[in-house]
Amino acid sequence: MKESEHMSVISGRETAVSTPTKRSDRKKTAKLLTWVTHLGAWVPLAVLIGEYFTNNLGIDPVREILFHTGTTALVLLVLSLAVTPANIALGWKQVIPLRRPLGLYAFMYVCLHLLTFVWLDYALNLAFIIDGIVEQPFVLVGTAAFLLLIPLAITSTKGWQKRLGKRWKTLHKLSYLIIILALIHFVWLVKNVYIEPGIYVGIVALLFLARWNPVKQKLLRWQRQVRAKLKNS
Ligand code: HEM
Repeated sequence: MKESEHMSVISGRETAVSTPTKRSDRKKTAKLLTWVTHLGAWVPLAVLIGEYFTNNLGIDPVREILFHTGTTALVLLVLSLAVTPANIALGWKQVIPLRRPLGLYAFMYVCLHLLTFVWLDYALNLAFIIDGIVEQPFVLVGTAAFLLLIPLAITSTKGWQKRLGKRWKTLHKLSYLIIILALIHFVWLVKNVYIEPGIYVGIVALLFLARWNPVKQKLLRWQRQVRAKLKNS
């Protein structure tokens, strides 16, 4: 039996010996998940383009595009943050490779969001744009989140991961700050009805909690017990 076949749950891997069939099933699931992620990430853009060409963007199309791209970016950021907790709580290590595309698609939607703001809303007028950013604190916070996303997108490749070594992990911890800034941006811009941003804040809080070591260890133990029960039944 190969060494690599003995895997520990603590590291998010399986205790059971992987048979070739199991491994091939996992590869298939991973492939399917990758396809679903890539296709799913383009759907919001396709819907937006469809709404544009069918004149379904409502009375304020620019605002609608801002909402649509902003929400999609936030959902993708939350999903990328959910990858590690999904592995901890459910042992789904097939989801780990999805973190990179999810992060990059989030960046793509933030770029579209920003482009909508500077181009469609402020007609590329630099003085107005600077005023619009500085005078609206929620936009300033959104801009900070966008700026922090840039180094993460650039260094998301395997080459950069190797080049930066341990510093890569430290740098990519910025993703926690980015999601917090994105949430502040959202909470700050809404007026009166806080249900939607509240839901995002709740989900992100749970995802952060799952990474906290005492909770993480409990989830891993629970995952091991469930797996053992399923194996015996
Ligand atoms: C990580 C970066 C960002 C994320 C995740 C994000 C997310 C969001 C979300 C979720 C909304 C509200 C959508 C809704 O109400 O359904 C929004 C709205 C908005 N965002 Fe962002 N945003 C980001 C960065 C930016 C940047 C860089 C700018 C501009 C420089 C910006 C400008 C705006 C504006 C103007 C609105 C609409 C406000 C309104 O008219 O009520 N955002 N954003």
